[in-house]
Amino acid sequence: MEVLILDTPEAAAELTARVIAKALRDNPHLTLGLATGRTMERVYGLLVRMHREERLDFSLACTFNLDEYIGVSADSPNSYHHYMYEHLFRHININLRHAHLPNGMAADSAAECRQYESAIKNHGGIDLQLLGIGRSGHVGFNEPLSALFSRTREKALSPETIAQNSRLFVGDEPMPRRAITMGVGTILESRRCLLLATGAEKAAIIAKAVEGPITGMISATALQLHPHCTVIVDEAAAAQLENTEYYRWIFENEPEWEEFRC
Ligand code: F6R
Repeated sequence: MEVLILDTPEAAAELTARVIAKALRDNPHLTLGLATGRTMERVYGLLVRMHREERLDFSLACTFNLDEYIGVSADSPNSYHHYMYEHLFRHININLRHAHLPNGMAADSAAECRQYESAIKNHGGIDLQLLGIGRSGHVGFNEPLSALFSRTREKALSPETIAQNSRLFVGDEPMPRRAITMGVGTILESRRCLLLATGAEKAAIIAKAVEGPITGMISATALQLHPHCTVIVDEAAAAQLENTEYYRWIFENEPEWEEFRC
C-alpha cells in the first residue's frame, strides 16, 4: 500500500482522475471498477472534462460498479444506476452495454450475485478498482464483520451507513436496509486498487484503515493485503495518520509519481 497526501480535495480528486486516465490511455480495453458517493463526484466531473477536452476515450472500456441498493429500481433517482448515468455515463462515449451494475430488483438476488461474479471473471477481472470509504470503514458496502474473503452478495447496511447515506435520498423513497455489494475478496482480486478519501470526517477511519491492524470490523484494512493499492487523501483526511513524512517522501521521490507531481 502507498499513501499519497495532496493539499486539497480538488488536488486529490485530480490525481485520482489522472491515474484513471493514464490507465485507460495505456489500455483502451481497461476493465474499470467504479464507486459512487459524494467523494467520486469530483473525479467523474474531471473524467468528463478529460473526455471532452482531451479526447479521453471510453469506447472500448468496460466498467463494473461495486454496489447497488436492494429494492431500488434502476430508474429511481436514488439508485446507483441513476448516479452513474448522471455523473459519468451519459457524458462520455462508453458503450452502455459494457457498463455493469448489480440489479437491486432481481427476483433471485443470490443468482444475481453469482452472475455478477461470473461476468467480472468472464471479462478477465478488474484492472483498476476505484474505491471510496465509509465512516464505518466499508469499501463497497462491506460493512463491519464482512469476511475478508467475501464475494458479491447481499449485505445489511450498518446504522452508520444508513445515517450517512439517507441524507442523499430524495423524494418519499425510504433508504433501503440492504444492498448487493462486491465482496472484500472480489475487490482484492482486482489488479490495482485506488482509494480516494477527502475531508475531516474521514480522518479517523483513514488512520485505522491504513495504519491499524487488519480486521473484519473495518473492511478497508484488508487493502493492506493488496499488492498494488494506492490511497489518495487530502490534508484533512490525512490529519490522524502518523507516518506522513514517509508518505510525502514517496510522492515526492518515487519515479512512478513524477509525471503526476505538477
Ligand atoms: C458506494 C461505495 C461506498 C462509498 C462510501 C463513501 O458505491 O462504494 O463505499 O464510496 O460510502 O461515500 P462518500 O464518498 O459519499 O463519503
